[in-house]
Amino acid sequence: MEETRVVLHKAGEFLPTSSLEYEAVGGYAGLRKAAADPDQIVDVIKASGLRGRGGAGFPTGLKMSFTKGAVADQKYVVCNADEGEPGTNKDRVIMEEVPHRLIEGMIIAALAVGADQGYIYLRAEYPHVKKVLEKALEDARTHGFLGRDIMGSGFDFDIQLFIGAGAYVCGEETALLDSLEGKRGEPRFKPPFPGVAGLWGKPTLVNNVETLANLPAIMVNGPEWFRSMGTESFPGTKLFTLSGNVNNRGVYEFPVGVTIRQLFEEVGGGCPDGRRLYAIQTGGASGNIIPASLLDTPMDQESCDKVGATFGAGDLMFMDETCCLLDVLENLAEFFVKESCGKCTPCREGNPQLLHLVQKFRRGKAQDGDLDLLIELGSAMTIGCLCGLGQMAPNPILSVVRFFPQVFAVNNVYVRGAS
Ligand SMILES: Cc1cc2nc3c(=O)[nH]c(=O)nc-3n(C[C@H](O)[C@H](O)[C@H](O)COP(=O)(O)O)c2cc1C
Ligand code: SF4
Repeated sequence: MEETRVVLHKAGEFLPTSSLEYEAVGGYAGLRKAAADPDQIVDVIKASGLRGRGGAGFPTGLKMSFTKGAVADQKYVVCNADEGEPGTNKDRVIMEEVPHRLIEGMIIAALAVGADQGYIYLRAEYPHVKKVLEKALEDARTHGFLGRDIMGSGFDFDIQLFIGAGAYVCGEETALLDSLEGKRGEPRFKPPFPGVAGLWGKPTLVNNVETLANLPAIMVNGPEWFRSMGTESFPGTKLFTLSGNVNNRGVYEFPVGVTIRQLFEEVGGGCPDGRRLYAIQTGGASGNIIPASLLDTPMDQESCDKVGATFGAGDLMFMDETCCLLDVLENLAEFFVKESCGKCTPCREGNPQLLHLVQKFRRGKAQDGDLDLLIELGSAMTIGCLCGLGQMAPNPILSVVRFFPQVFAVNNVYVRGAS
């Protein structure tokens, strides 16, 4: 199955860090068009229907309009390159293969909202990406794409690279901003939202790497072209990360709405050694785990919501018949205990309790009432926690309760892979 490459257009065909080579394959043309009439950028992005690729799917043009409309002496554009979600590698591929497309997208976003300073918040675990970005940023400055009077337009904008310290919660946009300000990264109460009061209290546009890397092509080709791909409510392409028990693990770009079956069979080549597919974790570590019977689900937000899957950032972790779901749930619950920042009680106290209950089932020590407690606690966390980390941590457990109830048999008759 042929990929549809928009964000990864021409990736691998030129030296990633060179702005001149990027220009030779059509790069920076979107910026030239945007710079000719900066006032129309937000309308073009709104008309394209672009939605955030960081997991929440918020309409990008609308978010831009909040920051554009905010009155302030200073505004910022921040690229969320934290990519801490286990099972997600798409932003790494963009930054390694087409870093100038991200830089170009950030400049277009800055022109749109009136920012003159940008930051890329990069996860510490990507040292190679750091080197690539440093080189690409320097090259962009040398060739007049960053700095003062960009391409003679009178517009000033520069980007600083900031390296995180390895906390998953710092991918949450307000924790990220606290971390950028030099504080311990903890989510803030919202509102106010970053668009109007973000970094150092100033209006700040925070977007995911993939979201920003879509802007150049939309500016060049127009909103109708963008809407011709994907679904009506979620246009464009998406980078999907395939991991786990699948032959061709990796990152692939397809129109939103491609089915999980197409990704699993035609792209991924099925499970290794002809084993049977048992379950799929959709949307990352805090995403729902669904049975193989839902393979025909299209990967778009609406279809995923309808069947109880998670679209998220487009991650799919495949599990074959040798996989024990209680092992998986224990591992995930441990992850959330470690990564909870501790600011709010339902998450700080709830996650260790979820782990304890999962371990009871895992070790055959569960009693009557434990499943009800697990459901009650998980459901309370989804509404009571301050940020998405705590709100979504119970998702894998609650989805296994829904789709694989036999896993939680109190008399421990659960047989791995059997459903
Ligand atoms: C715990 C947690 C971790 C997150 N990690 C990331 C991340 O690594 N990258 C990202 O772009 N968004 C992440 N997000 C979502 C951001 O808060 C935010 O919605 C996103 O950066 C907005 O960009 P977009 O509109 O372009 O998607 C995370 C959210 C939560 C709750
Ligand atoms: S939900 Fe968890 S990670 Fe989020 S603020 Fe509360 S304690 Fe911190």
